[in-house]
Amino acid sequence: MKLSDSTESDEGIADYYEEVLGRRWLLSKRKIGKQLISFVEKHAQARGYTEVELNVNRRNPAYYFYLKSGFKVHQEINIPYHAYVLDDYIMRKTISLQN
Ligand SMILES: CC(C)(COP(=O)(O)OP(=O)(O)OC[C@H]1O[C@@H](n2cnc3c(N)ncnc32)[C@H](O)[C@@H]1OP(=O)(O)O)[C@@H](O)C(=O)NCCC(=O)NCCS
Repeated sequence: MKLSDSTESDEGIADYYEEVLGRRWLLSKRKIGKQLISFVEKHAQARGYTEVELNVNRRNPAYYFYLKSGFKVHQEINIPYHAYVLDDYIMRKTISLQN
């Protein structure tokens, strides 16, 4: 996940989040995903950001989790990666001061 106009230290938090989600360390349906999203949003808000962004593969069921978490599809993107193409959505969520 990336924060708009993010700095190197923000990327550290974002990388940590991505590492945890991406490596399937989570046990499903335990609200851990929801808590991680909330953690990132609070961090972003504290730094004055108003939007967060992530990439998810278009066939990943996690897409529905992100929709439920308030993200919207911003763009479809096909990223060449060695012999493959990563067919992703870029999803964004506006974070309000009340969150
Ligand atoms: C996607 C993932 C992060 C969700 O985390 P989680 O801890 O299972 O989700 P939560 O328990 O916090 O669920 C929050 C809400 O989203 C819903 N939800 C979670 N996964 C869902 C899915 N695949 N489809 C639809 N809804 C889903 C839950 O039912 C819950 O709804 P509720 O608040 O009405 O009860 C987790 O399943 C995971 O790690 N998946 C494998 C790795 C992966 O693909 N990561 C994404 C990389 S881009």
